[in-house]
Amino acid sequence: MSSDEAAYADLFDRLERERGFRGNLYRQKCLRRRVAVRMRARGVADVSDYSALLDNDPEEYERLLRVLTINVSKFFRNQETWVVIREEVMPELLQRGGPLLMWSAGSACGEEAYSLAILAWDWLARTGFGGWNGIRIIGTDIDGRSLDAARTGEYPAAALDETPADLKRQWFEADGPYRLKEPIPRLVEFRQRDILAGRPEFDADLILCRNLLIYLDREAQRQVFEIFVETLRSGGFLVLGRVEMLDARVRDVFEVVNPRERIYRKR
Ligand SMILES: C[S@@+](CC[C@H](N)C(=O)[O-])C[C@H]1O[C@@H](n2cnc3c(N)ncnc32)[C@H](O)[C@@H]1O
Repeated sequence: MSSDEAAYADLFDRLERERGFRGNLYRQKCLRRRVAVRMRARGVADVSDYSALLDNDPEEYERLLRVLTINVSKFFRNQETWVVIREEVMPELLQRGGPLLMWSAGSACGEEAYSLAILAWDWLARTGFGGWNGIRIIGTDIDGRSLDAARTGEYPAAALDETPADLKRQWFEADGPYRLKEPIPRLVEFRQRDILAGRPEFDADLILCRNLLIYLDREAQRQVFEIFVETLRSGGFLVLGRVEMLDARVRDVFEVVNPRERIYRKR
């Protein structure tokens, strides 16, 4: 192992010990590029000096973790995907009636989970199909600070630049930051959770997991897909990010609903 390799190994051991972040499960090239961003910001040229800096300034752990788990998101990000969710997935799920659970895994600051809440509420209001009874939307993320931000229900304008104009008018108040209108903030629960920590304690009818798997290495991706297969009810939907693919080992478990938008249904 080169001295650079050893220094990174030591840094990621430290991150796991101190903050529970398992860097060895992520793509190393991506992680190292991001570590370099923080090293530059702190004027440090050497990985082992950066590790020493973490000892002296524990707040740097939080800054580093925010960069490593980058939590950029938007409401209705990749609009074409949301058109299919709005017109096909949501009506099919809601027409089934009964309890329903939708899970946004890697929910960042809540944009996706709230987008689901807006579409579900909107559909129920338009169709008069029934009330909100028994519907749960859960957003989970490893980053507790993103979840704190999610719970405020407030967003900068950039988070809404893919939001259809009618929904933006209807569901956001714009005095300073955009603020979600009632009842949307009350419809979503947020929980801190490492997606690799195993199966959650709920079963889901829809799992939205976009732009998280790309950061994980192949083995960690497999673990996540196994968790999804166990968590999804039969007939439940899985929505991945535009550049993410189903792992070959679970391909038979799903039928393809929309290949372009990476939407699948569990058989
Ligand atoms: C690029 S964001 C994607 C946000 C949203 N899903 C979207 O597509 O707009 C990736 C999110 O995954 C979260 N994340 C990274 N590793 C995670 C893990 N092991 N468990 C849970 N969340 C994780 C990050 O904190 C970040 O909020």
